[in-house]
Formats: sequence, structure tokens, C-alpha cells
Amino acid sequence: MAEAAEERFDTTMVDDIDLPYPQYRCPTCATDLPLNEARMTVTCAEHQAADSRDFTVRSARAGDRHDIEEICDRALGETEIDVFDRTFDVLRGENLIAEADGALIGLLSTAVQGGELVIVLLSVYPEHQGQGVGAALLRAAVDLARDRGLPAVRVAVSNDDIPLLYFYQRHGFALYDIALGLLADRAGAAVAGFSGIPSRDEVRLRRSVCAA
Ligand SMILES: CC(C)(COP(=O)(O)OP(=O)(O)OC[C@H]1O[C@@H](n2cnc3c(N)ncnc32)[C@H](O)[C@@H]1OP(=O)(O)O)[C@@H](O)C(=O)NCCC(=O)NCCS
Repeated sequence: MAEAAEERFDTTMVDDIDLPYPQYRCPTCATDLPLNEARMTVTCAEHQAADSRDFTVRSARAGDRHDIEEICDRALGETEIDVFDRTFDVLRGENLIAEADGALIGLLSTAVQGGELVIVLLSVYPEHQGQGVGAALLRAAVDLARDRGLPAVRVAVSNDDIPLLYFYQRHGFALYDIALGLLADRAGAAVAGFSGIPSRDEVRLRRSVCAA
């Protein structure tokens, strides 16, 4: 028992996720940041909004394949993503994209599992974050689930990814399961994720398509 508890709280970490691109941008100096160099700030609600540019959200088409591969590469280094005990290939999923001036600026990739819509990946390029792009993609995913007659949308987030945990709970998702140690076991050790927090557990959230 004591041994199991020790294992769970083992703080051994490998240095950081070996991703070639930054995932966030500093709002103060505009430096693009890899996950482990990003930090959180808390501000008044009225000081949150960034300049907003026009963008649209639509279903992906065959011609978007290259742009989808590129944003997956930047977010995770691959198009095959392990969540909910399965490997999902973004290129085979039903994908929603956000675009501005004809260029892809964000992707939300979905699949159906167990009669619910699963968000396999959500990523917005750093220079377009904080302008409602993620929220618009999420609304489109909920609409997609409703159109397909699916009652709920599920998503899995790494325990360290505070921006995503914030984002999904702000949009009506609630935690329902945590696969403790799953990510560390898969990687062989915990990896330094957002802000250097050890990435260990797969946190699972769900919301009903009827939720506000
Ligand atoms: C999480 C993510 C999808 C949100 O997308 P987004 O377009 O920024 O989302 P929105 O603009 O709709 O909302 C962002 C929220 O964070 C807040 N925020 C605060 N500071 C921010 C900042 N510097 N940048 C972006 N958002 C910020 C926004 O105000 C908003 O909160 P609110 O709705 O309470 O006001 C996006 O940040 C992202 O793609 N992150 C990288 C994820 C990734 O690729 N990870 C790789 C490993 S999985």
C-alpha cells in the first residue's frame, strides 16, 4: 500500500516534451513559449479580452489535409493521438477548422466512441489565442454532436494542462474520471508539461449537449 502511494507521488521527471514548436504566446512580450516555459496569470475579467480578428469555423475538406497535419505537428508532433484507451488518427476524424484570411488558425478534431462525441485534439495557434477561436470551435463541436443525435461530448486532458482544464470547465465540462499515472506509464516517466508541472494523469471531462 505504502509502496503504491509512493509510486503515485514519485516526482521523477524527464526534462520536457520534445516538441519542435511553441504552444503559447506571452501576452506581455509576445514571445512564443513551449509548454514548460509558459506560466499562468490571474486578471480581472474585463482585462482578459485580446484584440479580436475576424475568423470563421467550418468542417474540414480534403484540401485541408496538409494544414491539419501541420497544426497537429505543432501541437503534438503527430496526427495519431492516444486518449480514452484508444489511438485516434486525426486524419480519419471529423474535423472542424477555424480560418482567418484563408489560413487555418485552429483545429478541433472529433471521433465517435461509445455513443458520445470525443474531442481528440483542440489547438489554436499561439498568435490567435485569447480571441474566442477555441470557444467557437467548441460550440461547433457541440452542435455537431447534437446534429448526430449524440447526447454528450467528452475530452481528455493531461493533468498539467491548466489552460485546457480552465477552458473546458468554463464551457460546461465536468470531471468524471482520472486515469492516474496513465501518461507517465506510457512515457516511461512523468514528463515536464505546462509550466514544468509533471504530466502524469489523463483527466477526463464530459458535458451534455444540452448544457448551457
Ligand atoms: C486552450 C486553447 C485551445 C484555447 O483556445 P483560444 O482560442 O485561446 O480560446 P478562447 O479565446 O475561446 O478562450 C481562451 C480563454 O483563456 C483566457 N486567456 C487568458 N490569457 C490568455 C492568453 N494569454 N492567451 C489565450 N487565452 C488567454 C481567455 O480570456 C479565455 O478565457 P475566458 O473565456 O474566461 O475569457 C488554446 O489556448 C490552445 O490551443 N492551447 C494550446 C494547446 C496545445 O496545442 N497543447 C499541445 C499539447 S496537448
